[in-house]
Amino acid sequence: MHSETSKVTTRTLLKMKAEGKKIAMLTAYDYSMAGLLDQSGVDAILVGDSAANVMAGYPTTLPITLDQMIYHGASVVRAVKRALVVVDMPFGSYQGDPLEALRSAVRIMKETGADAVKLEGGQEASESIRKILSAGIPVMGHLGLTPQSINQFGTYAVRATSDEESEKLLRDAKLLDEIGCFGLVLEKIPAVLAGKVSRSVSVPVIGIGAGGEVDGQVLVLQDMLGITRGFSPRFLRRYHDLGTEIGQAVSRYVEDVKSSDFPNTKEQY
Ligand code: KIV
Repeated sequence: MHSETSKVTTRTLLKMKAEGKKIAMLTAYDYSMAGLLDQSGVDAILVGDSAANVMAGYPTTLPITLDQMIYHGASVVRAVKRALVVVDMPFGSYQGDPLEALRSAVRIMKETGADAVKLEGGQEASESIRKILSAGIPVMGHLGLTPQSINQFGTYAVRATSDEESEKLLRDAKLLDEIGCFGLVLEKIPAVLAGKVSRSVSVPVIGIGAGGEVDGQVLVLQDMLGITRGFSPRFLRRYHDLGTEIGQAVSRYVEDVKSSDFPNTKEQY
């Protein structure tokens, strides 16, 4: 368990980049897991809209609502003492209308107590980002594979493999840096491009499937613990096979109940 308790802020992450210290981020969506992550030394926790997939079983991140993200965000914040908590803005809560984006971000900050919000998109999202920043709300950008646009992409394959797309991504990253985002997530893009982005912007770049030349890494907790099944992209390192262990524990419990082994005399009043 990690003993350091001083709160991680957006400034801490900037300092870590300046000092060449890598940033460890993971997703969490609930109180119990968030507490374990916080006590184990993660620098930042992302309440990702991947909750739509891993918590609710939807095939995409599109259906999750602002109210649901607020529920997950508030649950995580209640458990966390040290890590920076970033809450994803869900699909439909910020695109196209900066005022609507501001209202959504304000709700997230007020009702969850999180430290920052994250949203997807570069130049297209920049007006919304500026508006949110104008209210003093820290914003993290998200470029590369942006799952809320899956219906436009049509695939979860690696992004920015063409010159045109990689040039746009670099331009977008510089724009988000200039307008005041405190950090960027780069998802599923070539490692060389991600390294170039990281060296071209002043803010920390956190990668997922973006190689090792960036300032930190993020993974979906249930993926790295081996709870999600049938998902094994190249970038995913599984640190545990918790899915199998949970299955074995539950099978033993079922067996014990059916054989009347549980509860025994010491386990009753
Ligand atoms: O929602 C999420 O979990 C994310 C990460 C994949 C970066 O945005």
